[in-house]
Formats: sequence, C-alpha cells, structure tokens
Amino acid sequence: MGKLIINGGKRLQGELSLQGSKNAVLPVMAAAALCTGGNGSASSTGKITLTNCPVISDRFCAGRILSSLGARVTGSGNTCLIDPTYIDNSVIESSLMRSMRSSVIFMGALLGRTGHCTLCYPGGCDLGPRPIDMHLSSLRKMGAVIEDEHGKIECTAPKGLSGCRISLSFPSVGATENIMLAAATAQGETIISNAAREPEICCLADFLRLCGGRISGDGGGRIVISGVEKLTFPEEEEFSIIPDRIAATTYLSAVACTGGELLLTDCNPVHLEAVIPVFEQMGCYVRCFGSSIYIHRRERVKPAETIRTMVYPGFPTDTQAVVMSPLCTASGTTVFVENIFENRYRHTDALCRMGADIRAEGKVAVVTGVKELYGTTADAPDLRGGAAIVCAALGANGTSEIYRTEYIDRGYEDIDGNLRSLGADITRG
Ligand code: UD1
Repeated sequence: MGKLIINGGKRLQGELSLQGSKNAVLPVMAAAALCTGGNGSASSTGKITLTNCPVISDRFCAGRILSSLGARVTGSGNTCLIDPTYIDNSVIESSLMRSMRSSVIFMGALLGRTGHCTLCYPGGCDLGPRPIDMHLSSLRKMGAVIEDEHGKIECTAPKGLSGCRISLSFPSVGATENIMLAAATAQGETIISNAAREPEICCLADFLRLCGGRISGDGGGRIVISGVEKLTFPEEEEFSIIPDRIAATTYLSAVACTGGELLLTDCNPVHLEAVIPVFEQMGCYVRCFGSSIYIHRRERVKPAETIRTMVYPGFPTDTQAVVMSPLCTASGTTVFVENIFENRYRHTDALCRMGADIRAEGKVAVVTGVKELYGTTADAPDLRGGAAIVCAALGANGTSEIYRTEYIDRGYEDIDGNLRSLGADITRG
C-alpha cells in the first residue's frame, strides 16, 4: 500500500504550472464516445486529440472504459488520442463502473451513440448518499426505457431519444452533463432549466460545439441543445482541457499552511473568484494577472468569514477540505457550512489527531485555530480530504505518513513531485 511521507515545516517557494481539470476531462472523454468517424474520406477520420489532460488515475479509468467499448485510446503525457470509430459495445463492466463516480456520464453518451447501455451504480468517493435519480428521470423523459434491478441498470431507447424540457430540482453537475450528452444527437430541442453552471459544463459544451453540436446558454442556468445528426471531431484540431480550479486551490492552501510564496501559472483566475477572497481574509497577499495567480503568506493566518459551500459560482464543496487545513492554525475561529454533500468532513478526524480543534456536526464544522499542528499517521478518507491532510502535514511539526494515496492520485498529477519542486520534504514510501 503506497504512502506519502512528509516532514512538515518547510516553507514553500517557487513556480508551478497547473494541471488540467479532472472534472472537465472525464465528461469530455465520455463525449468522445458520441462522436462518429469523419465523412469517410482519408482526410477526415474523426480522431480526437485532447491536450492539457491531467495525468491522474481517473483519466486512465475513463480511457479503460472507452477501450472496453471498442474505442482506441492512445497518447502519452498530457495528450490523449481517442479514435471512437469502432465503438460497438455498450456494456460497461461493473469493475470499471465502481472505480469512479464519473462513469455514470457514459450513460447519456452511449444511449446517444448506440441506443443502449448496461451499467451498474457508480463508485467514487464516499461523501454520503450520491443518488442518480435526476440522471435517470431526465433520460426517461427523453424516451429512454430504464430498468433498474438490484443495482444493474439496463437502458434502451427503442424509438431513439427526443428533446424535451427538463427542469432539475437541483443543479446537479453530473445530471446536467448526462442530459447534454444524450441531447446532443437526440431528435429536436432539449431545454435544461436550473442547469449546473460550473466551468466544466462550459468545457463540455465547447467540446460538443467543436464537434458540430448545437448548444447555447452553458454557464447560465438554462441550456438549450438542438440535436444534430452526428458529431465529428474536426481533422487537424486539438481540444484543450481547462485548468483545474480545485488543484489550484489545493496548492494555494498548501502555501497558506506552510508560509512562503507561489506563482501558479496556466490557471484561470476567473474560476477561482469564490476562493481567492477567503485566502485574502486569511491575510495572504494574492494577485491575479492573465492566467497566473501569485500568493504570498508571511504572517500567521487569520480566521475567515463563514464558508458556505454552494454550487458555482459559490464556494466549491471540492475545496472545503483543503481550505480548512490552513484555518486550523488561524488566530481565531472559522465556521464551515457544507451544503452539497452529507458526509464531507471525514478529513477532520486526521486534522484533530494533528492537534486541530474542529467540532463537526451535520452540515457545520467549527474550526478554532490552534498555535501549531503535529505530524501524524492517517489514511486519506477520500480525494479532497486526502489532499487536505497533505496540506496540513506540510505545515505541521514533525513527520506524517499518509496512506490510501490511491484516492489522492485519482485527481492530482504528481502531487509529491510538484510540492518537492517548491521545497517540500515529501516522498513516496
Ligand atoms: C460533481 C463533481 C464533484 C463535485 C460535485 C459538486 C465530477 C466528476 N465530480 O459531482 O467533484 O463535488 O459535482 O460540485 O465532476 N444529487 C441527487 N440526485 C442526482 C444527482 C445528484 O440527489 O441524481 C445530489 C447529490 O447527492 C449531491 C448534489 O446533488 O448532494 C450535487 O451532486 P452533483 O452536482 O450531481 O455532483 P456530481 O456530478 O456527482
């Protein structure tokens, strides 16, 4: 079992190029399954080139799903090449389904591509109940017949999928993506109201538009999709995945934990508008210019105003854990209210073992700053919770050993190499 060994207390300093977004690359890879080959001519094969892909295990899991469906997935480093021409299978094995939550968005793509799909309930981080009722009811509304027996989901679209009006009871990111994928090649127009507005939704819409999809309104609460006959990735084009706003916040939090300065390049500061003011409240000096963010933390951090997780453009639930780490040693108390998931304070046990004073009950966590944290041994409880423990350990006195690193590697590209390049004493054991 892999572990990260961190000797804390080293000030971070330097420059880092930010990775591409995990939550953007996964739906785009699912969308690749919807694309059919070019127009048959030798110059138009319909092969897809994705750049700025993060080198993380979830991306490779999506690649394995695509390969199991009959696509050819190659490429190295940050480039992923997908040839979806020969997709002929629409059954996703349960081992692949269970390895990540995003496997569920292949449902909309496969229904659109083959008119059928068989899968089981997805896995992913345990953040409390994660139902997919909105995904299923929306696809049913579009004409899918879905049988859900003992966790096995069998979907068919005997008459094809048809556009319709869908009003989401909550702006679910995954449900919005699944509907967009199913609607892209459905008959007629689909209107999603109360749609998710996250930047990753816009990235998916940009990819679909590049392939000939007709979508408008993404980034707002009302998305209109007019189904087209087929989607084809244009020859000679490349599609670049947006920067990862959650990884960006993690590196800013790491610096807020240790003190020091960081220039984070290749990011989109606009996507971080809800989190940057929190670092400023902590007393960090933060400046954004172009696609870079500079952060400098000199003094002990100050407490922040109450942090309430919200859908975009509010404060992201995915950054709640990592932002809590520096606030554990603030000169006062910060209150967190987690509004999106029921069980997203699982990192607090480890932080308390490090000496933090955190009272978490239900949606609320009260973090009273202590003078310092101490190294500990802990399991990463989930992806972002694991990253939060890494940040806290970087700023703590003494050595920490963090196990279950497979959670962290699902979403962070070379987190130990990146932090080492900034002066952290972090190794893999
Ligand atoms: C995505 C992100 C995840 C992030 C979350 C919220 C990816 C791969 N993952 O997850 O990192 O934390 O958005 O920003 O992009 N819900 C239902 N029924 C449904 C669907 C969702 O009740 O059918 C509830 C969920 O239980 C949760 C809330 O809606 O309480 C938000 O979930 P959703 O936006 O769907 O999150 P994901 O797409 O799973």
